[in-house]
Amino acid sequence: MGNPVAHSRSPWIHARFAELTGQTLSYGKRLIPLDGFAPFVRAFGAGGGRGCNITVPFKFDAAAVADRVSERAALAGAVNVLSFEDGLILGDNTDGAGLVMDLQRNAGFDLRGRHVLLIGAGGAASGVLGPLLHEHPASLTVANRTLARASELVARHAALAEQMEVELLAQSLLDLRGNFDLVINATSASLSEAGVPVAGSTLKPGALAYDMMYGAPAQGFLTWAAEHGAHARDGLGMLVGQAAEAFLIWRGVLPPEQQVLDELRAVMQEPA
Ligand code: ATR
Repeated sequence: MGNPVAHSRSPWIHARFAELTGQTLSYGKRLIPLDGFAPFVRAFGAGGGRGCNITVPFKFDAAAVADRVSERAALAGAVNVLSFEDGLILGDNTDGAGLVMDLQRNAGFDLRGRHVLLIGAGGAASGVLGPLLHEHPASLTVANRTLARASELVARHAALAEQMEVELLAQSLLDLRGNFDLVINATSASLSEAGVPVAGSTLKPGALAYDMMYGAPAQGFLTWAAEHGAHARDGLGMLVGQAAEAFLIWRGVLPPEQQVLDELRAVMQEPA
């Protein structure tokens, strides 16, 4: 469920998960009117819907419509997975788990002890900060154009950072200092063709530069990363990873996400 939703790859991904795990599943796209999210979701559950993924711009509305949310969704303040159980709407957030799965399992990047830069402090960044902290990086810097939003996000995660013994900092993009093992772009800057919002000096030699977007919007960041000698990775694996975690919530089985990611990359390279 989202708006827009036409280009979503989720029906394809979940259909493959179902085939590969022997589950029976029907998963479609729903374009929701911008002012009609909550009634649509309630009607979907009342009509026998078992669960749904939520995409832009409804992840905050989804948190509000849920009767209960998981700890990670509460920390994120956003929900991308709903389940309908015994008349209740349950909310969760698998975006961060999907990112961590893609980084650690698919890209072979161990977060423990590393210095991480997260660029952006909007919905995309807030969904992944908690799960990143859980992997015990040495430090995590949230840098944003609007410093106040980064500071708010950092304050909300301060207790978790302390518990995980991670140095968690907020910085303004204008006077960002330091260099990092992992630079994650969680801004929407590329959608307005604003370019990459940080300097190449933020990348340590051999760093991994990760854009949470995929396809054309990620291209500028990936090119920039390669030009500065970094390993570049787009967010397609995160997309498949968050879907796999949602499938696990609904069906109790973790599908083979690496295989489906490889297949999806091949499908996306085919001529339209
Ligand atoms: P999303 O759900 O995609 O995260 P969002 O909540 O609107 O969308 O957040 C967009 C993020 O991209 C914010 O961190 C925003 O910075 P501000 O908080 O200062 O608005 C960031 N962003 C958007 N355009 C940008 C640009 N041209 N340069 C730098 N950051 C930008």
